[in-house]
Amino acid sequence: MGVRIVKMQWDHPRMDAIKKAGQILKDGGLVAFPTETVYGLGGNALDVCASHKIYTAKGRPSDNPLIIHIADMESLNLIADEIPPAALKLACKYWPGPLTMIFKKSDQVPYQTTGGLDSVAVRIPSHPIAQELIRAGGGYVAAPSANRSGRPSPTRAAHVIDDLGDQVDLIIDGGSVEIGLESTIVDFTEAVPTILRPGFISEAMLREILGDVLMDPGLGTDNTPPKAPGMKYRHYAPSGQLTIVEGDPDAVADCIRKLSKVKMDQGYAVGIICTDETRTQYPDGVVLSIGRLENEETIGRHLYDVLRTFDDNQVAYIYSESFHTPQLGQAIMNRLLKAAGYQVIEV
Ligand code: TXA
Ligand code: MG
Repeated sequence: MGVRIVKMQWDHPRMDAIKKAGQILKDGGLVAFPTETVYGLGGNALDVCASHKIYTAKGRPSDNPLIIHIADMESLNLIADEIPPAALKLACKYWPGPLTMIFKKSDQVPYQTTGGLDSVAVRIPSHPIAQELIRAGGGYVAAPSANRSGRPSPTRAAHVIDDLGDQVDLIIDGGSVEIGLESTIVDFTEAVPTILRPGFISEAMLREILGDVLMDPGLGTDNTPPKAPGMKYRHYAPSGQLTIVEGDPDAVADCIRKLSKVKMDQGYAVGIICTDETRTQYPDGVVLSIGRLENEETIGRHLYDVLRTFDDNQVAYIYSESFHTPQLGQAIMNRLLKAAGYQVIEV
């Protein structure tokens, strides 16, 4: 059986198709759909069997909880308890949007959806297709990123087809996503709100609203386990060995040229991740520009696509510049460092 795909423009949800997709969710099926961050693999969050299907389709460990996507603030009360005023303030500013908040879960949420935890992760996405699908599907859609566990998150429908084509009942193709990095996760079950995963909404933006914010110590490179179970897995890993080079831009380019030459002379296919601004510095190898340094959103948007392209080209070694840009730098480097298994050369 071929994959069922329905195409629509991101800002013009086709309501006939959305209604059918919503029915699939209500019947316990799985629908992959675009959000503003990455594509999600949706199932009814309140249906134990649907949650189980999501874990099986992704090959995801069952202790790794799912985010519940809702379409409006009124839906929050059914699934979350003890919502602090600070969270409501943050919701006013950044929902709908690329922000996930963690609260104590209500009795309505099955432990199968929360990976056995007493807390629940919730997000209101801003993507028009996602919003309509959530409403049509009954209001509570559990959706992890729609990749196979361990692969980079999907930013286009083609990525979903590659990873999960035969596992889903329907894929809604709404074109390329806007942000390309998964949502910022803020945990409100701690005394001080804590960032469990950096994203488009940066630490500085959160601090402006919340005052005090902590970073989960588990996001560092020491051995503290991260609080978000999903952050402990070596995600986003390309099959080639990725090394990040840090330092003065000219020295970085020089180092990457030398390292690549050594591997190419040994007969290996080598990939290089650079920017539009530095592209001409690299005459050899599979050289992919990730975007423009002066427009950091282009870098976030293309990161996962670039990692997947190297897999398609069966590149054995990948060298990347680093991208410490003002708003997205923390999120981009978090994903890139994980993809590199924290292998960094300082020049
Ligand atoms: O942008 C996004 O958030 C995308 C789109 C589809 O909305 N979704 C996404 O889901 O990235 P997923 O499952 O790939 O990542 C969810 C992360 C995992 O690291 C998981 O461990 C963490 O959120 N998480 C979920 N519920 C949690 C909870 N109750 N406590 C701590 N971490 C939680
Ligand atoms: Mg994921």
